[in-house]
Amino acid sequence: MNVLVTGGAGYIGSHTVRMLEKAGHRAIVYDDLSKGHRAAVKNSVFVQGSLFDSRLLAETIRRHAIDAVIHFAAFSCVGESMEKPQEYYHNNVEGSLNLFEAMVAEGVGTLVFSSTAAVYGEPETTPITEDMAKNPTNVYGRTKLAVETALAEQYSRVYGLKYITLRYFNACGADAAGDIGEDHDPETHLVPLILQACLGKRSGIKIFGTDYSTPDGTCIRDYIHVNDLAAAHLLALDALAGGHRSDVYNLGNGQGFSVQEVIDAAEAVSGRSVRRELAGPRAGDPAVLIAGAAKIRRELGWKPEYTDMKDIIGTAWRWHLAHPDGYGDKREDLGCRN
Ligand code: UFG
Repeated sequence: MNVLVTGGAGYIGSHTVRMLEKAGHRAIVYDDLSKGHRAAVKNSVFVQGSLFDSRLLAETIRRHAIDAVIHFAAFSCVGESMEKPQEYYHNNVEGSLNLFEAMVAEGVGTLVFSSTAAVYGEPETTPITEDMAKNPTNVYGRTKLAVETALAEQYSRVYGLKYITLRYFNACGADAAGDIGEDHDPETHLVPLILQACLGKRSGIKIFGTDYSTPDGTCIRDYIHVNDLAAAHLLALDALAGGHRSDVYNLGNGQGFSVQEVIDAAEAVSGRSVRRELAGPRAGDPAVLIAGAAKIRRELGWKPEYTDMKDIIGTAWRWHLAHPDGYGDKREDLGCRN
């Protein structure tokens, strides 16, 4: 298949692009490089473009005879979304709708859409299943939920677009080759922050909240290897090509780890110790987020390869050791921000 991958120069996008190419598909990366990295795209066709450039979108779809789209391109920082709601609604919602309009106009009827566990907000029970209430506690989650709703109510029902939405839990790790990995600016994610501290690039790690109702008082999350996430996109494409109905799936390991446990694992993997600073809770952070991922296992045959936290962190550590400054194309003052 010829697959247009928006945001294919980003963290999850670049891993999915690699997997698509390995599986014999042709990935056409479409990315504005506002967050992504040109160096993360190794051999695929690369088009630098915006989701708002309808003409370039149409031209790219036509020129490469696109069969399906995987739509990653979005802003994805929870904290930032609360400070810049307008940018998040514009980019994530309006940008997505613009892409879907181009797909409809050019007759591309297959889509895999990146969504997030953040659509659920504070869960009623654990593990979280797809049918539970959606009460996002942040703008990021609300923008993704808005797009999910537009897909179901408009693009699928009115235009017949077939889609699979994947709600990711906490992506981490890197491809075993060690040449692509996680590099955000600024970095806000737990695993890369800890590993930067292991490298001595940060003075330590702040633990956001130590008084949650969890065994060690710190937040519990479901960490999933980025290649296991990527693999699910290929299964979703195959399923849609085989006539699968439009649907929504959670993507997580179904196993929770506390912040303290993640730091322990990173220390064990790296052989270095990290200074832990106990801090207050971060606004909007639920205590426990664990995926119920039985549906995607059952219906699409997805099975994660990485279930051990140390194995997952080991792949990330390899990337960070070899690329202490990430891709080196975007600079932030690491200082003592964390
Ligand atoms: N944390 C710290 N210190 C830090 C950074 C994070 O203690 O310096 C804690 C957070 O409070 C949280 C956990 O580590 O409990 C994981 O935090 P991340 O920022 O790595 O990830 P989030 O769970 O906040 O968010 C991730 C994605 C979102 C997605 C969400 C869905 O980044 O895009 O998972 O669960 F919406």
